[in-house]
Amino acid sequence: MEGVIDYAMRELLTSSGSYDHAVTEFVRINDMLLPNSTFYKYCPELKQEGNTKSGTPVFVQLLGQHSNWMAENAVRAVSLGAPGIDLNFGCPAKTVNRHRGGSVLLKEPNVVHEIVKAVRQAVPVEIPVTVKMRLGYDDKSQAIENALAIEEAGANALAVHARTKTEGYRPPAHWHWIAKINDQVKIPLVANGDIWSRADALECMKVSGCNDIMIGRGGLSLPNLADTIKNDVAPLSWEEACKLLVRYSGYTRDDKSKNFLPNRIKQWFTYLRREYNQADDLFQEIKTYRQLDEIISIINRKYL
Ligand SMILES: Cc1cc2nc3c(=O)[nH]c(=O)nc-3n(C[C@H](O)[C@H](O)[C@H](O)COP(=O)(O)O)c2cc1C
Repeated sequence: MEGVIDYAMRELLTSSGSYDHAVTEFVRINDMLLPNSTFYKYCPELKQEGNTKSGTPVFVQLLGQHSNWMAENAVRAVSLGAPGIDLNFGCPAKTVNRHRGGSVLLKEPNVVHEIVKAVRQAVPVEIPVTVKMRLGYDDKSQAIENALAIEEAGANALAVHARTKTEGYRPPAHWHWIAKINDQVKIPLVANGDIWSRADALECMKVSGCNDIMIGRGGLSLPNLADTIKNDVAPLSWEEACKLLVRYSGYTRDDKSKNFLPNRIKQWFTYLRREYNQADDLFQEIKTYRQLDEIISIINRKYL
């Protein structure tokens, strides 16, 4: 997830081994081949065979409109060790959509097809190419056409965020629409949207008919959500979540990204507050602090 799930967060969330794979933040592809350093920046896991320390593969996510440059950059990511490539046709951001990237391309299923096909053909057959889409841009009328285009182009799996771009993040996610797509395509579909608990996951799988699910915000709100779903373990306690916050702040980063860390931690709170009442109090206390050590010492003093 752009702006939230960096390598340190992936490391934390995948540590119990309950995610089948994770995805990087998106690498924006324009009309050039990006240097190796860009791929290492987005996916430091490339230096450890493309896996988090727990052995969870991390797919490199690409977003762009030029099929040839998407393909060339996908090949580069794979040559550096990416275990999979994920293509983004879901991003609702205005700046991204204005430059014909993300969900706006769902208005042009032929372009979606061309991009997926170019990447699939360029990348070795044993490397999965997965795709993420929303149900459409303004409406859902092209949802099935897009999914069929993606399948025909050779994608190995398709994750569907069960909303249009216009619906933003407003509940509900229309899981029954994923079932409609499931009736038409044969590639594995991955259901996504508003899975906040084990019960949501089971209901979503039932309604969508999917065996696979993708979790986004819920995984930040309840850091062991994947484990609760897969292994039916108890939700993480608030104290354990605080330990994760401290661990997250301790990962080595370059000086530049260190400056962002207090903001990233505050952003994580917007999700933690959904699950933990105590997160609200703590957030009120830390929100004015700018220095990482100040924030961490408050967490330590109050809860650890
Ligand atoms: C802050 C934020 C960043 C996101 N970044 C991405 C992204 O880079 N690529 C993508 O395909 N979806 C991205 N999404 C969408 C999520 O992957 C997911 O489809 C959406 O949040 C619905 O699922 P959820 O209810 O499990 O969060 C992002 C969502 C949020 C809130």
